[in-house]
Amino acid sequence: MIVDGAHSLFGDLSQTEFTPMHSDFARFLLPYQCAISALTSMVTILKGDLTHADHYCPIRDVTSRVKSPDSILGKAARIGCPLTVDDIGTNILDIAGVRVSCGLISETYRVATLLSQQDDLTVIEVEDYIAHPKPNGYKSFHIILEIPVYLSDRVERVPVELQIRTIAMNLWANLEHKIHYKHEHSVPPRLLNDLIDAADAAHRLDAKMQRLHDEVGDPTAGQATHNGAHLELLATHIIDGWQPGHGRHL
Ligand code: GTP
Ligand code: MG
Repeated sequence: MIVDGAHSLFGDLSQTEFTPMHSDFARFLLPYQCAISALTSMVTILKGDLTHADHYCPIRDVTSRVKSPDSILGKAARIGCPLTVDDIGTNILDIAGVRVSCGLISETYRVATLLSQQDDLTVIEVEDYIAHPKPNGYKSFHIILEIPVYLSDRVERVPVELQIRTIAMNLWANLEHKIHYKHEHSVPPRLLNDLIDAADAAHRLDAKMQRLHDEVGDPTAGQATHNGAHLELLATHIIDGWQPGHGRHL
């Protein structure tokens, strides 16, 4: 976490070593909760504005979560990150997470583009798993955004992982997560194959819906920005320096 300003009201936590029960954890997580509120509010404003402008809402659902202390410590152990505030803040960028579901693939890119353009937000990293799905079929557009959080005595720039996906991608990812959780990561091969089939069906549905939508056009807007291919190019252009691929750090 990048901290502007000399001292925190709460004192210096930077070298604090955490355990799951550490009482300072709540304090550490506060800016992340604020960052989620701020980003969620930006998404809600965008949703209202687009709905008003287009008489149609591309954003269907917005959810969020702060990573649990256990999960933060587990990830830190996995990646060999020391358990101090500074190290965790620098190395774990998905402590705050916001997830947006859209109807169409083009809308995921449109929302990604519009949010990336907002003055307050800085794009840190982009992972386009829609253009480059994971081998298991996972698709989603991930952006790590840095957002300013105005606390009483300082401004912190806090990373948030924004995941943008279609409803079909979201349905699949939620089910896949549930299956892995239930089987504690040793999922029977039959289920894994079924999941790959289901991912394929979801992708074909998304592609078909996009094709139909592009063919019909958007009677309310009548502009090219509702075309998926065009928006993919737009997103590439706006997230400066980013080329489609995995985990490119800007
Ligand atoms: P982790 O955050 O530890 O997973 O490492 P990472 O940042 O390298 O992973 P990545 O950016 O690929 O994924 C971050 C998040 O995306 C995860 O925490 C999940 O929410 C979601 N995700 C990624 N891959 C999958 C997947 O295969 N299935 C499901 N259901 N979700 C996934
Ligand atoms: Mg990631």
